[in-house]
Amino acid sequence: MITIPPWHVHTMPPEHKEKLMKPIGPLMREHRLIERMIVLLRDELVSIEENSRASISLIDAGVDLFRTYADRTHHGKEEDILFRDLARKDLADEHKLTMDELVQEHLYARRKVRELVAARDRYVGGDTEALGKMKENLQDLISFYPVHIQKEDKRFFFASMEYFDRQEQDAMLEEFADFDRRMIHEKYGTLIESFEKLGHS
Ligand SMILES: [Fe+2]
Ligand SMILES: [Fe+2]
Repeated sequence: MITIPPWHVHTMPPEHKEKLMKPIGPLMREHRLIERMIVLLRDELVSIEENSRASISLIDAGVDLFRTYADRTHHGKEEDILFRDLARKDLADEHKLTMDELVQEHLYARRKVRELVAARDRYVGGDTEALGKMKENLQDLISFYPVHIQKEDKRFFFASMEYFDRQEQDAMLEEFADFDRRMIHEKYGTLIESFEKLGHS
């Protein structure tokens, strides 16, 4: 494989830079945004402890980010594209095992967000006891994401790229971009549908 020194990358036209990007580039960039929400929610947890009340607007923003961004858009690209293509390769046992663990971990995150929403709804409905459950779910998500992200960033992503040649990586990047393009339409389509189902029209 030809390695191009980093100082050359800066002087390259954008279309060439694009060609050098690995599919894990956008995935790792998404990890950084998820981490920023984790920091906000960690602060929120401290504030809940101190004031015995929760900021529903921040919790709702967190739930939306976990569902639409972290799960549908980010885990979606991991599972539906990267892991799908890896599953077609002759994977080393270690990588196969890690990939299975990552899928299980996505299921765990989904369950924890569901539980957080259930506790949030009870809390908003006046059940102050639900605050304890919200704190527990928030703590679980705050503990979970950094470990999951580190596992992918440090132990899986770079190794996973070794299974793909440049052409396959470029095709994957293109499929990622298509996947992302669909997300905004899907999000608002689902939003409208949910209100229509409630009988608002
Ligand atoms: Fe993941
Ligand atoms: Fe990830």
